[in-house]
Amino acid sequence: MSRARARARLAMAGFPKLAWQAGTIVPFADARVSVADRGLLFGESVYEVLPVTAGRVRWQAPHFARMREGAAAIGLEAPAWLDADAHWPAALVGAEGIDEGLLYLQLTGGAAPRAHLARATPELFAFAMPHAFPDAARRARGLLARCVPELRWHRRDLKTTMLLPSILGKRAALADGADEVLWLGADDHVLEGGSSNVAIVERGVVVTPPAGPERLPGITLAQLEQVAVRLGLTVRHEAIPRARLLAADEVFVLATSLLVMPVLRVDGTAIADGVAGPVALRLADALAAALASG
Ligand code: PDD
Repeated sequence: MSRARARARLAMAGFPKLAWQAGTIVPFADARVSVADRGLLFGESVYEVLPVTAGRVRWQAPHFARMREGAAAIGLEAPAWLDADAHWPAALVGAEGIDEGLLYLQLTGGAAPRAHLARATPELFAFAMPHAFPDAARRARGLLARCVPELRWHRRDLKTTMLLPSILGKRAALADGADEVLWLGADDHVLEGGSSNVAIVERGVVVTPPAGPERLPGITLAQLEQVAVRLGLTVRHEAIPRARLLAADEVFVLATSLLVMPVLRVDGTAIADGVAGPVALRLADALAAALASG
């Protein structure tokens, strides 16, 4: 097949047109990592997903900082491309023609002969995809969640690409008619979602599990905490046993792709009266406004 036809086929299958790799924007079909890449062979790889609204990459500084910190934690040297004010993400998003979407970035271990302790030069690549952030009607429909005992490793604060347990958890949730898995750690504590952080509302106070190795330090959650303070709401970091979650006035999840999304039922049990809660909806509106100016 000719290159041109191969590219056309990828575009039709919903892939981006372009990718960014080591300083250059290339046709998506031409972006490459080696079969000896340590991310592929060992999961030695970190990733980020950034929001794009009105054609602009948002919250780049905290996302790039988290990637640099994650890279350091797993022994990868972060390239200078990850400077907080780098211009290449805007160039890629512009070239792809994304108005509203997500920018995906991966810093992968790089190619070396297969040996556990080999060292390689990490490679950074990125691509941008269109994405519709949930609107008010979507938020009102909310999500259903299902609790699943934790399957992942002990450094869930690192955004690595070792996502197989997340996929298994999400499949288990889907098989039960739910949209998102909620991971249950020791003593039945709810830690976070399969690809989201979790929070509850009790008598107007927002509660989310403590930061630490058990959950990802979500950028959306960090931004929400700032927005909540501006709205005069209190945010507490406390352990949330499953029974506390089920008895909450509201439950919601947070992620770049969802922003704030109410959870209406958990394991088939309605949260309060089973409709999207007022605090979550207020926070969602305020966060969307903060995103537009971020
Ligand atoms: N996931 N917790 C987990 C396990 C996640 O995978 C994510 C995001 C979050 C929320 O983080 P942030 O607010 O920084 O997006 C929490 C991304 C969106 C994904 O894997 O697609």
